[in-house]
Amino acid sequence: MLDQVKLQIYRYIQELRDERVEKLFVRIPFGKMLRSKLILQIAPSKEAIGLAAMVELIHMASLLHDDVIDEANLRRGKPSINVTFGNKSAIMLGDILYSKAFYELSSLPAPLPQIISNAVTLLSLGELLDVELARSFNPDIDRYMDMIYKKTASLIEASAMAAAQIAGKDTRRYGLYGKNLGLAFQIVDDILDITQDEATLGKPTMSDLKEGKTTLPYIYLYEALDEKGRERLLSLFKKELSNEERSWLQERLRDTKSLDRAKQKAMQLGQEALECLDKEDERLRSIMTQLIDRTY
Ligand code: IPE
Ligand code: IPE
Ligand code: MG
Ligand code: MG
Ligand code: MG
Repeated sequence: MLDQVKLQIYRYIQELRDERVEKLFVRIPFGKMLRSKLILQIAPSKEAIGLAAMVELIHMASLLHDDVIDEANLRRGKPSINVTFGNKSAIMLGDILYSKAFYELSSLPAPLPQIISNAVTLLSLGELLDVELARSFNPDIDRYMDMIYKKTASLIEASAMAAAQIAGKDTRRYGLYGKNLGLAFQIVDDILDITQDEATLGKPTMSDLKEGKTTLPYIYLYEALDEKGRERLLSLFKKELSNEERSWLQERLRDTKSLDRAKQKAMQLGQEALECLDKEDERLRSIMTQLIDRTY
């Protein structure tokens, strides 16, 4: 069924009748399609295929803009659109994908367009908050959690709610599952930035701190370090790291168990996600465990 989502996405792009857009679009490989998997698992139906395609377009648009914001040069293992074609094209392609998705959403029955479009407002507010939090080192976990809820969990929550609506299931319960899943998902993404290599991840690594992103492992590290250690950590904030500095950070993140703590937090949220489900939702359980144990 994921193939049908991909086909639908291509159909939406062809409907734009613009060669330039097609040329840019084919440079973006498909990703893990987590949001589509979630939607199709909750609502295995034709209507859900269209919804999944719209959500994937929205997600792609958010990544196009995110790579401009984060000055990233790699996405899904390929040079990102902002480096190949420049920031201006990346921003406009993002706008085209967003507006095409909204155009298609507008013909779905209420409350589907409201559920999804509200999440896109939250996603954008979250990205804005991420930018603002990046001005100085943020040791505040609550602000971090609020930001990741908005930028990442909100769209995953909305995907689950919308799919539940289509399938006539309990939207509140599936929404809560999606929200906790989404929070865990972003925490794992923040861990992978530190632990993975670029080839495996398909995007830049050890780049969050350089971009001013004080993600959960760094917040825990700050809590664990003594005065001198904290000073050193703060001196590396928003800096291009030397090999020695990179190793210092990675060793401290490991020996203070800050990475383990972040992983535990993700697992705890994953557990909370599962508690929202019925026993028979075996596949939704496995989406959660795959997400926690993923390597990219
Ligand atoms: C990347 O999302 C951005 C985050 C919300 C962490 P994904 O990890 O779902 O990206 P793709 O679609 O698989 O590339
Ligand atoms: C961005 O988070 C999430 C979005 C809503 C686009 P990140 O900036 O951590 O995502 P990656 O790591 O670039 O995929
Ligand atoms: Mg990014
Ligand atoms: Mg970002
Ligand atoms: Mg990231």
